[in-house]
Amino acid sequence: MALQTLLLLAAAGLAQAHFGIEYPPMRANTLGSSQNTSYSQWTNPCAGVPGNLTGRPQTPWPLTGGSLKLDLHHPWTYVFVNLGLGPDVSNFNYTLTNPFWNETGNGTLCVPKLALPADLPVSDGSEASLQVVTVGEDGNALYNCADIIFKADAKALEGDECKNSEGVKVAPVVVGQAADNGGSTNGTTKGSAGSAVGVNTAALSSVVALAVVFVLGMSV
Ligand SMILES: *[C@@H]1O[C@H](CO)[C@@H](O)[C@H](O)[C@H]1NC(C)=O
Ligand SMILES: *[C@@H]1O[C@H](CO)[C@@H](O)[C@H](O)[C@H]1NC(C)=O
Ligand SMILES: *[C@@H]1O[C@H](CO)[C@@H](O)[C@H](O)[C@H]1NC(C)=O
Ligand SMILES: *[C@@H]1O[C@H](CO)[C@@H](O)[C@H](O)[C@H]1NC(C)=O
Ligand SMILES: *[C@@H]1O[C@H](CO)[C@@H](O)[C@H](O)[C@H]1NC(C)=O
Ligand SMILES: *[C@@H]1O[C@H](CO)[C@@H](O)[C@H](O)[C@H]1NC(C)=O
Repeated sequence: MALQTLLLLAAAGLAQAHFGIEYPPMRANTLGSSQNTSYSQWTNPCAGVPGNLTGRPQTPWPLTGGSLKLDLHHPWTYVFVNLGLGPDVSNFNYTLTNPFWNETGNGTLCVPKLALPADLPVSDGSEASLQVVTVGEDGNALYNCADIIFKADAKALEGDECKNSEGVKVAPVVVGQAADNGGSTNGTTKGSAGSAVGVNTAALSSVVALAVVFVLGMSV
């Protein structure tokens, strides 16, 4: 058991791949020397931090989607952001990154407004949690969660509060030929329309949000 712990710590140290969620603040410190040693970012779904942790921060988020600020330490990584509803989430069954992202650069990635799925049943006071997963080239994944509460009067981060570090940017990863969300992908409908075919509005709005991020990232 002690050996196993040592090996785990060694592996974690070598990987240097840990990441932080700066906004909304992550549920607990899963990064750095003061972290609870029972937490590990290799653990699905939330690095071993329980969803009912006493005193966890619950950050107000706008009903139409809020900001996300990550602290990333890799030359590049794939990023997935998922959302689950309720006070103690075990099922992160809504994705906010469709398609998922390929993030390049070491430092802060800030998305001013992460679009929500059109069918997300939330209203003022709904509790929820965000799960951020980063995946390296080898397929190893790291997990972190942050807790939010949807509020009609909540504000997203703006301007200087939400800027990417120099060189940090994201590109959506489109897997395969045409985006196929269970729709019919006829050979004839591929071609120039490409990824737009069969993409639902939620996916489109997240692509629009991403385009904004991409532009902001480029202009820094
Ligand atoms: C570490 O986390 C576990 C699970 O949340 C908790 O039971 C334990 O009290 C924590 N230890 C410290 C030192 O905070
Ligand atoms: C949190 O959930 C665990 C497992 O579901 C339970 O054993 C524990 O008592 C709960 N803690 C609090 C503070 O509610
Ligand atoms: C990322 O940036 C930090 C601070 O500038 C630096 O200490 C670290 O070595 C960098 N890591 C990588 C993988 O470039
Ligand atoms: C997601 O999970 C929650 C809780 O398990 C459930 O109530 C909800 O219907 C699920 N939504 C979808 C779209 O699967
Ligand atoms: C993601 O970005 C990295 C670095 O720019 C690149 O090497 C990799 O091929 C990209 N992955 C995809 C699927 O585009
Ligand atoms: C796809 O092809 C089938 C068979 O050719 C056709 O019946 C169907 O209407 C097509 N669907 C679309 C969306 O074009």
